[in-house]
Amino acid sequence: MIQDRTQQHARLSCRAVRPARILPGLVEDVQQGLLEPPRSLSPKYFYDERGSQLFDAICDTPEYYVTRTEDALLLGCAADLIEGLRPAHIIEFGSGASRKTRHLFDQCATAGNTAVYWPFDVCEEMLLHSGRHLLHRYDWLQVNALVGDYLAGLRHLPRPGGQCLYLFLGGTIGNFLPEEALAFLREVRSGMGPGDRLLLGADRVKAPEILHAAYNDRAGITAEFNLNLLQVLNRELEADFDPDAFRHEAIYNLDASRIEMYLVSRRDQAVALARLDKVLKLESGERILTEISRKFTPGSLTDLLTAAGFAVERHFQPDNGFFSLMLAAPAE
Ligand code: SAH
Ligand code: AVI
Repeated sequence: MIQDRTQQHARLSCRAVRPARILPGLVEDVQQGLLEPPRSLSPKYFYDERGSQLFDAICDTPEYYVTRTEDALLLGCAADLIEGLRPAHIIEFGSGASRKTRHLFDQCATAGNTAVYWPFDVCEEMLLHSGRHLLHRYDWLQVNALVGDYLAGLRHLPRPGGQCLYLFLGGTIGNFLPEEALAFLREVRSGMGPGDRLLLGADRVKAPEILHAAYNDRAGITAEFNLNLLQVLNRELEADFDPDAFRHEAIYNLDASRIEMYLVSRRDQAVALARLDKVLKLESGERILTEISRKFTPGSLTDLLTAAGFAVERHFQPDNGFFSLMLAAPAE
């Protein structure tokens, strides 16, 4: 870790995690992914401050069952988890607003288990915002926020002594390609001690209409979230994308069991990317893939965890089978 960024409060720190390997930055990603078809960009670029707020708003849309379902599961299993593990540290990847995680802190308070919370996210503004919220709510909680890209490796993550509960919630594992998911979970596994556990949340395969509605909410918040990526590109690359010249598209690819989210060009257009000294030419109807969101079965999720070196200890799921929370231990 490098540089302590903020000393907002004695119980809130925010530090950058040093990348374990150098990943291409936005400029290189755009050069490699956007300039030539098939065009795509990593979903990590969604999450500037506005993008993080929009994601949080998606969670409250009636169609996006994901957050509500996982929230209810966490509420139901929090006592089991905290009393069973009594973690000294709770380390959460892609923590966002840390809303659902509060069920675990509530249970820590009940059980007198004063765990330290380590939220790890690419969005510093959201980390600080949610960190302050948590301090206010839990007068015993120490929040050590970590800013960085978890795809750049976990070797420089702090390794505090004591039992660690790692969290990867929300179904964000589904935003990874299969090989990325496996590599990431293997990396998480390699940093774990025998008493540590991983709680992994994943969205499940279900009726296509339900999935389609969840990524095409009527209020248009998911569309706004997707289109906000163009504002990120305008700011970071001094580009001149006109968001009105694109539309949001989210389809369920049945064969791949995944939602695919695109930005579709509404017309033939040329977009200047000043920082790259390039012009992006798009034809009417051309698509940019901005996110995949893979949906799992209990079998495919178990297989993934097993391949990454875990043994599934518990599986929490609702009666409708909409979402899975698996508690996994490092396999012998
Ligand atoms: N866990 C929360 C938020 C999910 S949204 C929930 O379940 O509601 C995905 C989160 O992962 C966002 O907060 C985003 O900023 C973060 N994120 C996405 N890509 C990331 C990356 N490569 N490194 C670190 N954080 C990332
Ligand atoms: C963060 N992630 C799990 C969300 C998902 O459902 O794949 C991101 C999202 N994209 C559109 N809506 C929500």
